[in-house]
Amino acid sequence: MLSLNPNLFQFLLMTAAADRESPLEPDVSWLNVLVLHGPNLNLLGKREPGVYGHETLDSIDALLDEEGQLLQVNISAIQSNHEGVLIDEIHRALGEHHGILINPGAYTHTSVAIRDAIASVLLPVVEVHLSNIYRREAFRHHSYIAPVAIGQISGFGSDSYRLGLHALVHYLRR
Ligand code: DQA
Repeated sequence: MLSLNPNLFQFLLMTAAADRESPLEPDVSWLNVLVLHGPNLNLLGKREPGVYGHETLDSIDALLDEEGQLLQVNISAIQSNHEGVLIDEIHRALGEHHGILINPGAYTHTSVAIRDAIASVLLPVVEVHLSNIYRREAFRHHSYIAPVAIGQISGFGSDSYRLGLHALVHYLRR
């Protein structure tokens, strides 16, 4: 009687499954990342340029799209000035996105609700800030988001987003 090594059997099953995959099916090596920008970030470029620089939100989103192509990541970016909209997007991310990159803006320092939304969906989240929040006013030194994020990057301008995306992707592919 033919006896098959269980490891070989498993390998044959996996190969057969791979052969059945349609070329139209999405490539599972691509990740989906949700980028959330909080309040007032729509005004980047005009808003306190001495603190936040001259780059606009559109240019940051374009940078993330470019970086996403290199890293094989689909980026969906959303900005809102409303806490509830950001919370709804975090809930919607479940089953749609592999992780979230968020600049919660001033909600960083006030929003227990955004913190709870992140804790509820159990998706890996990286928190980013353009400015170094620890070199600024004392009320910016506390983040409600940091304890539920896998990490935080603060103070590198638009590079905070780029570095944050790399950190998230590295975490997801580890
Ligand atoms: C910010 C820092 C926050 O303190 C501030 O309220 C913002 C922007 C940043 O990216 O540096 O809106 O999140």
